[in-house]
Parts: sequence; structure tokens; C-alpha cells
Amino acid sequence: MSTLASQLQQMECHQSVFENEVRKLPLPVCRIFGAEHQPSAVSFTATGQVLSTRDAQAVAERFAQTVKASGNAVLRASATVARVSGKRVAALFSGGPAAGGHNVLCGLKKMLGADNTLLGVKGGPKGLLQGKLFEITEADAANILNTGGFDFLGTDRTKIKTPEQFDQVRKVCIEHQLDAIVIIGGDDSNTNAALLAEFLYSGIKADGSGVQVIGAPKTIDGDLQVPGLLPISFGFDTATRIYAELTGNILQDTRSSLKYWHFVKLMGRSASHVTLEVALQTKPAVTLISEEVAERKLSLDAVVDVIAQAVISRFRAHGHKHGLVLVPEGLIEFIPEMNALIAELNDVLALHAEGFAAAAADARIEFVASRLGAANATLLRKLPAYVVDMLLAERDSHGNLQVSLIPTEQLLIDLTRDRLKAIAPDVPFGSQHHFFGYEGRCGAPTLFDAAYTFNLGLTAGALILAGKTGYMASISGLENGGEPLAIPLTGLINIERRHGKDEYVIEKALVRTSQPAMQYFVSRREAWAADDVFASPGPRQLWGPAAHQMPMTVALNEGAASLLFKIGA
Ligand code: FBP
Repeated sequence: MSTLASQLQQMECHQSVFENEVRKLPLPVCRIFGAEHQPSAVSFTATGQVLSTRDAQAVAERFAQTVKASGNAVLRASATVARVSGKRVAALFSGGPAAGGHNVLCGLKKMLGADNTLLGVKGGPKGLLQGKLFEITEADAANILNTGGFDFLGTDRTKIKTPEQFDQVRKVCIEHQLDAIVIIGGDDSNTNAALLAEFLYSGIKADGSGVQVIGAPKTIDGDLQVPGLLPISFGFDTATRIYAELTGNILQDTRSSLKYWHFVKLMGRSASHVTLEVALQTKPAVTLISEEVAERKLSLDAVVDVIAQAVISRFRAHGHKHGLVLVPEGLIEFIPEMNALIAELNDVLALHAEGFAAAAADARIEFVASRLGAANATLLRKLPAYVVDMLLAERDSHGNLQVSLIPTEQLLIDLTRDRLKAIAPDVPFGSQHHFFGYEGRCGAPTLFDAAYTFNLGLTAGALILAGKTGYMASISGLENGGEPLAIPLTGLINIERRHGKDEYVIEKALVRTSQPAMQYFVSRREAWAADDVFASPGPRQLWGPAAHQMPMTVALNEGAASLLFKIGA
């Protein structure tokens, strides 16, 4: 084999030049931990901040043991301490992948050191129920450091909710002699972590003690954040930088080819944080923010009008036939009439599941429409088949509408074209549509996500060594060296009515129009719509000045002085 051919072959199995270089990338750690290669264990003390939600009383009753132990007080890492030994800790990924998950494992492994054991759970919560545990070695950690994806362990969306499932977790804990479990997941998974922490609080081991449960905040959606305490969930920075690079490239194309309006739908489920961040990074002509649409009660017609007016005014003022519209994945659920339709559809589909499944494919729309109220039935019949099919598609395991499957970007293009034909037939409207989602979830983590997650792993490990349970690890103080925090999960829990039942949940943190990031966006969007002022952030960097930026929404919302994050500085 030629030398070049053998070099190429050696790059198989994650050995590309890039992958080998990023494994050597030095990661900054919060000052209190000391050095990346030999981080110190730390103790935790109360910050003085106690969390409370509107359902605090009911939560204190449901989570009696963990609330009594934590008092819902936020903790900070306070002093270095000797490392305890002999603990067996299992870690799992839950939900959609997000860049940096592997580094949480690497941080955990570093903090636990050689005298404790880190076990990986294959295949998420389902794997935990099946007892699919194996030991993570030093060599494993070195191999996955700074790599994207969740493929080392795998993940799934099983929700541990039945008494049988809880008992099964107890059995697995006993069988594998676990002292702690780390759940790396989003809002639903961290709610599960809180429930497990309570269930496993005591009486699991022979001495009557329990199994600790610690959460780590993951999701590209950015909807797990607590102002001043948890700046963002990990994976958000990497995903938004990837989407912003692609969006910047398209914007560059719009101005080069001068012929298309591009409609870009961005992942993020219900929340528009991803869309807002990409807008701040690229400054396109139109950005829709679902939460604002709901707050202003904009109908589908009104949303289409916003787009159509931008198309018309850019053409009339500058002759522009091009532009770009950012559309959040969950928009459809925030348009009042669509929201009402989806809510009634959820009920009808749940109530008539069998009849619906038995109906012939071409009779399904009528089967459902005939069981809806008049307004919703009319709307359903008016929508294009490609939207209706997805509105009627199976819900995910948490009972959520699978918004990523709804081609909202296509719907908006079709409705905008119709509107322009009616009100401004001379205005040209060529269109293209895109959906950026899966492209961004598993990219190699940005330096921000790589460092943030490694420190989250160190913090989760330190909490376990300190004997804590029922907390979520967090890193705040991003401009000032980084401060490891422990947020009591029960301090984030409320009661929500879901699928006809009251459930304990950590509420999704949606975009608030009063937030500084949103206000800055509102102050600039008219200028972005009027003419081309876009910016192209380019590919994400791991070395050099662009590598040291934190997300713009985080910097604005946290009141940072600049975009630079300074963990360890
Ligand atoms: P998590 O909330 O589990 O992190 O998942 C995020 C997400 O990427 C959403 O943005 C998207 O709507 C969803 O997962 C897609 O899920 P799936 O991978 O099941 O298609």
C-alpha cells in the first residue's frame, strides 16, 4: 500500500488529524480545582441563596427526604479536601445528544481518580433498567476527550416513572453495588434525577444508607438555565455555532446569487434560544421568536405578514430579491390558533387511539376533524397535507408533539408566496428551505463546551465525593475563573398539568421578552431587516481569539462585560 493510502487508513476509527489534535487540547479548569491533570476534591458550603418555586409546599411533601437534607440551599465549592475512596459511580446520557457529554465523563473520571470506580451505562435510562453497566478506564477517557456525540455510551428517551421501574433501578444499584448515579440530561431527565434521588435516599445498602443521584445540565435547546446560577445547558454553544456558520454561509450566498429568500428552521424544541443566538451571531433580515409570537398573540396570518412586509420593503427600497428568515422549530405550537388545535388534537388522539389506528390512511384526517370543535376542524382541513400528517404523527415517549418533523419552514414559504401574489404580485419571491438540527448536536465541542462540560464532570464528581445527593452540577462566574455550584433539584420543581395529569417537573426555561438578549435583538432587528448587515461567524475555532467566546445570549443575559469566558483565569 502506498504511504498516502496507509496514512488515510490510519485515520479510520476517529483518528483523523483533527480528532487526534483535539484530544491533546488543554482544558481550563475552575481555579478551586487546581490543575486539569490532578484536580483536587472540594467541599461545598451554602451560598446563602435558597430556591423556592410556586409549588414549594407540595414539592417539600413529595420530596420530603431530599428537601429536608438540602433545605433547597444552593451550594458553592469552598475548599480543597482529601479525596475519599471506594465509591462506585454510574453515569448515563439521557435524551438527545449534545456536544461535550464525553467530557462530563472525563471530568468525572478525573475527579473520582484511581481509588473510585466510574461505570458507564450503555443506552441511557433503558440501559440502567437493564443493568448494562461497564467500567470506564483511563484509556477510554483519553480516547473520548473533546470528541462530539454520545456514541461512547449511547442514549435514549425512556422515562423512569412506574413503581416497577423504580424498583428495578434499586435492584440494579444493589447488584452493581452503586454509591451514586450521574444523570446527564435535560429538564425531564433532571426531573427524573430528583425523583430517583428521593427514591434512593436511604435503605438501599446494608448499612441503611442510600444511593446518591446528581444531575448534569445537557441540551442543545438551552432551555435548562437558571439566571445567575446556571448560565446555559451544555451543547448549546456548539450547536448554535454550527448553525451560525451554516447560516452565515447561506447569507453570503444570498448576497452573491441575489435570487432567493432562504427559510431556515432551527432545532430547539419549544424554546427559541437557539434561534435567538443564531440571529445575534448572523443578523439576518427576519427572525421569528416563538415566545414573542405567543406573547403578542400573533395569528398565522400575522406571522406571514411580518415576512411578506420584509420581502416587499427590501425589494421596494433596494431591489433586493433575497433575504433570510430564521424559524424556531417549535413556532407552530406558539401560534395561538395552532396551539389550540394541537391541544385538542392531543386529547382526541389519546381518547380515540384505537379508532384512529384502525382508520384507513386516507380517512384519518376526517376521523379526527369530525371529533374536533368547529374552529379547529376548519383549521385542520385548511392546512396542507404535509403539515397535517406530522400533526397526527405519533407523540414521543414523553408525550410531546415531534415538532422537528413539522415542515414549518415550507408552510411559511407557501403562505408567504400566496400572500405576495395577493398584495404585491410584482415582487419576486424565489425560495429555498433548510432545517438545521441533527447537523449541530454531535459536532466536536467548542472550547466553551469542552471546558464547561469537563468542569461539570469535575463538579458532579466532587459532589459525589462530598456525599451530596439531589443536586445539579453547574459552573457560574464564567468571566471570573468559573465557580462550581450545586443547585438543589427540588428548588427547580413545580407541578404542571401534562396529558391530563398533575406532574412534578422542572419547567422549561423559555425565552423571555424582558431578557437582555431579547431586548438587544429587538433594538437591532429593524436595521437587520432594512438592508444586508449580516455577519458570517465562520467555522468554530478551538485555538485563537474566536475560540474564547461564550454564547452571545449568555453574555447578554448574565450581564457580562465582554464575550470572553475566562474559566481558570
Ligand atoms: P433533548 O431535549 O433531549 O436534549 O433533545 C433536544 C432535541 O435535539 C430537540 O431540539 C429536538 O426537537 C429533539 O431533540 C429531536 O429529537 P429526536 O432525536 O428524538 O429526533
